[in-house]
Amino acid sequence: MEKTRAPRNRTLTLSDADRERLPGQLLGVDALRQGLKPGVVQADFQQIASILPEASFDLLILDPPYNLPKNFNGLKYGKQGVTDYTAWLEHIILPLKPLLKAHATVYICGDWLTSHSIYEVASRHFQVRNRITWEREKGRGAARNWKNCTEDIWFCTCGPDYYFDLESVKLRRRVVAPYRDAAGQPKDWNHSANGKFRDTHPSNVWTDITIPFWSMPENTDHPTQKSEKLLAKLILASCPDGGWILDPFLGSGTTAVVGRKLGRNVLGIEQDPEYCLLAQKRLERAPRQPSIQGYAAQVFWERNSTPQKT
Ligand SMILES: C[S@@+](CC[C@H](N)C(=O)[O-])C[C@H]1O[C@@H](n2cnc3c(N)ncnc32)[C@H](O)[C@@H]1O
Repeated sequence: MEKTRAPRNRTLTLSDADRERLPGQLLGVDALRQGLKPGVVQADFQQIASILPEASFDLLILDPPYNLPKNFNGLKYGKQGVTDYTAWLEHIILPLKPLLKAHATVYICGDWLTSHSIYEVASRHFQVRNRITWEREKGRGAARNWKNCTEDIWFCTCGPDYYFDLESVKLRRRVVAPYRDAAGQPKDWNHSANGKFRDTHPSNVWTDITIPFWSMPENTDHPTQKSEKLLAKLILASCPDGGWILDPFLGSGTTAVVGRKLGRNVLGIEQDPEYCLLAQKRLERAPRQPSIQGYAAQVFWERNSTPQKT
């Protein structure tokens, strides 16, 4: 049954016309057999991994189901033991690893508990360089536990040489105590129309991310959608302009949309037909809506400090 939504709710949904038009825009498995193409393919990622050329991708974004009870439009995941989840992750990584270039980067998403499994598997196959923890802001309170409000992203590379564009992912923060040098000039900060700001080195704790919610135009009904701003950081830092990105758990298409907005090639694989159409709809709209909320004038802004509405 159609959900009734508040008038200001901007959640992206599929119309009958979308369901007619969009399937023809998805990539077919046969087209991919002819060569690598950016786009969205509806399939099990294992099937596609087996036909893709080796050493093709600069960046792999892995956002698999976490070890939680979750229903992805009918595909139900239960909670497994830690050992089983670790084995399942290994089973995911094995067919994907040969598809990566020697200098490629891999980001693996998880929560506090699956992080244990991610480290164990990732350290067997890649060089683990860091763990980013990001604050989800939203979370369900617990009566006898701490509210679960963070997620992790493990930063790994295939080898010692890898691409990392630090300047593109600096965070512009408000300066609380502006310091001036002996000549009275601002030290390491700048005036802007909105106040005093400093561009800071991006750390492994991200407090500037908002998970998509109903008033944001990027929002869909996908239960675990990541924000465009989060993907923009990973892509800008770790994939060169024009490079290739693989997302085998594409969901609502966030990686594909952000990749297109930032001039990268993304191949996204998603098993669910409904999510594929949502992803394709977002891709279709990307040229008309090129902005990324929280990233303006090529700068990442602290939460609630963006100078312009995006
Ligand atoms: C955590 S969600 C990804 C969310 C995504 N990052 C976004 O922003 O929307 C995981 C997705 O993987 C899909 N999935 C699960 N198993 C899959 C498989 N074997 N092959 C392809 N997709 C799969 C699920 O349907 C789900 O949409």
